[in-house]
Amino acid sequence: MMGFAETTYDKFLAPFEKLRLSEKRGLLLSQTFGKVLEIGVGTGVNLAHYPYSQLEQLDLIDIDLTQKVIHYKFPNNFPVSIAEYSVENLPFDDAYYDFVVFTLVFCSVPDPIKGLSEVMRVLKPGGKILFIEHVLPHRHGLKQLFKGFSPLWKKMAHGCHLDRETLQLIKLAGFEIEFSEHFFKSSFISGVAKKST
Ligand SMILES: C[S@@+](CC[C@H](N)C(=O)[O-])C[C@H]1O[C@@H](n2cnc3c(N)ncnc32)[C@H](O)[C@@H]1O
Repeated sequence: MMGFAETTYDKFLAPFEKLRLSEKRGLLLSQTFGKVLEIGVGTGVNLAHYPYSQLEQLDLIDIDLTQKVIHYKFPNNFPVSIAEYSVENLPFDDAYYDFVVFTLVFCSVPDPIKGLSEVMRVLKPGGKILFIEHVLPHRHGLKQLFKGFSPLWKKMAHGCHLDRETLQLIKLAGFEIEFSEHFFKSSFISGVAKKST
């Protein structure tokens, strides 16, 4: 995944998790219930945060599944599925999920609008996306730095765009933003958005 070994990815992320990322994941995922789809599950960092007793079903997809997720110890008899698919072409029914979760994923999806329209399709009317993404920071200097470094980072980090404006793309795809919050000097965003009823 991402061109890094699984443990390297987790080590790279560890200081960010300690600072605030893990807390943000927990706050978002505590809201889930019913049928949930997670896109780009990666090494499974979100899996410890789900309130499993509130969930009917959890489907996990990634274009490149990791052993950590495949061997993750879910609660006994919990209905979970793990499969290799791209968000740009989901094999799920229309209007099926209560929530779709994605964290640090849309920076590297080649056609993010296609992916977001697939997410919209599989959500029930009134269903929600819960997301955390890194985005272009607000401050001019930092923004220029992210833009300048983006082409090299894209080669190093498996197609990850440092200059992707994912919040704007989420709006463009037709979601209603219910909540959004920038953090880490506005280079990250967490949020909740709804498919209209
Ligand atoms: C930076 S990792 C994030 C992993 C995890 N969600 C997290 O928060 O740490 C991005 C993940 O998205 C997956 N991914 C990239 N493009 C994807 C796509 N088109 N469809 C599904 N997953 C994708 C990658 O394989 C990788 O596991």
